[in-house]
Amino acid sequence: MRLEKYQNVQDGRLKHAGHDYLELAETYGTPLYIFDEASFRERVKGYQQAMETPYFETEVLYASKALLTKAIARLISELGIGQDVVSAGEIFTGIHNGVNPEKMYFHGNNKLNQEIRYAIENNVGTIVIDNRMEVERVNQIAGEVGKKQRVLLRLNPGVEAHTHEYIMTANLDSKFGESVFDEAIDTVIQRLATAENLNFAGFHSHIGSQIFEEASFYKAATELLTFSAAVQNKLGIKIEEINFGGGFGVYYTETDQPFNVVDFLPNFIEHVHAEAVKLEINLKKVTIEPGRSLVNASGSTLYEIGDLKHTAGGKDYAFIDGSMNDNIRPALYQAKYEAMVVNKAEFPAEKTYTIAGKACESGDKIIENIELPELTTGDLLLVNGTGAYNYSMASNYNRIPRPAMIHVIEDKHYLTVKRESFEEMMMREI
Ligand SMILES: Cc1ncc(COP(=O)(O)O)c(C=O)c1O
Repeated sequence: MRLEKYQNVQDGRLKHAGHDYLELAETYGTPLYIFDEASFRERVKGYQQAMETPYFETEVLYASKALLTKAIARLISELGIGQDVVSAGEIFTGIHNGVNPEKMYFHGNNKLNQEIRYAIENNVGTIVIDNRMEVERVNQIAGEVGKKQRVLLRLNPGVEAHTHEYIMTANLDSKFGESVFDEAIDTVIQRLATAENLNFAGFHSHIGSQIFEEASFYKAATELLTFSAAVQNKLGIKIEEINFGGGFGVYYTETDQPFNVVDFLPNFIEHVHAEAVKLEINLKKVTIEPGRSLVNASGSTLYEIGDLKHTAGGKDYAFIDGSMNDNIRPALYQAKYEAMVVNKAEFPAEKTYTIAGKACESGDKIIENIELPELTTGDLLLVNGTGAYNYSMASNYNRIPRPAMIHVIEDKHYLTVKRESFEEMMMREI
């Protein structure tokens, strides 16, 4: 397993910022989500600095669908980044933990009327409108609330990034946004710009997730700016802001070769500026909204090995006390992970295992065919790169309680999510 900066092997064991994983397991139990706060802070600050430019205002938003807890919301608020939200629940969590709603961008196809009303009443800064029907709904609700709501329109620029089909959002049949190739697109934009209760500021696009080609982002930027210029010239509507979405790829296994986002961003900003100047667009603001690349490498999950099974077909299973309930990504997207036996950190890898969860699904395998030292029941297995889309997608399938989460900040660690109890699983049931 590739180690993160905060991990090292000491006395034959893997440690997190000097903390022994065995002690963390004893203190908090397993399965356990572990989140490294220092590396998250460092990444956020790195992105913010890399976006700084004299050309226009820039803002880094955090796509909170990747991981949102009260503690993460407090960090967002403390670090002063915006929050990309996709539901009233995410807005609620942000607001109740100090995030400035003015810095929120509310996304999502089929936002419910009550969610739109909740957002407007609670001063959410920008609503990213998904489609022409939503234009009317947001306009009407803003009128009822008595506010002029700032909005962007989500565009589908038709740029295909090479990624898994389920996380590719800008192909022509995507459910997200209005296509730049749609015959009625001018009418939709005209309506947005003239709707009495809307303040139309510009466009948004998100071309997909886990993208490894910088070229895809440059291409999408050029497409969006070219389209913006056409809108300005044809319809006389000014485009002040473009939000380029998230999607920067991250490392899960050796086959992933992500680019360095901090190196990429200044070049990307130069590209956006140069294109905007060429096309005579007076951009006032540029935003990005990464999720995975900000949190993923800060998160890992600690499991205990239970039974071991050698099948008649010759496969060696090692069962963990977690499951697809705490990490659905392998079952959902065939996602791959690396792992390490923290108490056998210096033992040679000598056997191929499939790491399977305890849920009642054959597809509940966290890692297929990983080379590990000979395992014994009670060993502790750490899976890295679980910060994004693990806890946020966790479920209670099979009535398995969701794990606890801790944050590690240098010499301290503290609980941020309590392990779910059986009573809590029944709490809403009558
Ligand atoms: C609109 C939008 N913005 C941002 C993101 C965050 O993407 P990522 O976590 O890959 O950076 C997503 C992910 O689905 C999205 O749909």
